[in-house]
Amino acid sequence: MGLATTTTQRERDGRVDEAALLHDSGDELAPYTHGEMVAAILRPYVEPRICWIVGHHGVFQQHYYGRQTGEDPDARERHRGHEWFDDCAEFCELYDQNCFDPAYDSLPLERFEPVVREVFAEPRYLERG
Ligand SMILES: [Fe+2]
Repeated sequence: MGLATTTTQRERDGRVDEAALLHDSGDELAPYTHGEMVAAILRPYVEPRICWIVGHHGVFQQHYYGRQTGEDPDARERHRGHEWFDDCAEFCELYDQNCFDPAYDSLPLERFEPVVREVFAEPRYLERG
């Protein structure tokens, strides 16, 4: 539900990207650390800014849910000043914390399969030593 809603909202705003499509891919496997897990998988395939947003979206989401879950809602503040802090904050505010409405008119994820195939077609950001 969340991935389809996030991606649909981003498409409707003309902003589909890998963060929208893939940020919660590992949520069932690693519900508390999936951001870091997915970021590790994506690192060779997406630009560093997108990877950072995916890897940190969990702690930024605490801003909205921390009071209910007993986690620190201000935990994201330790990243304040980072060059991509505002990008991650915006992603969570506009396209994550509000994407759990089962009644939202989400497009089917299959619609975005070509984008996923393009992302993983080549490790464009693979660091070669
Ligand atoms: Fe997530």
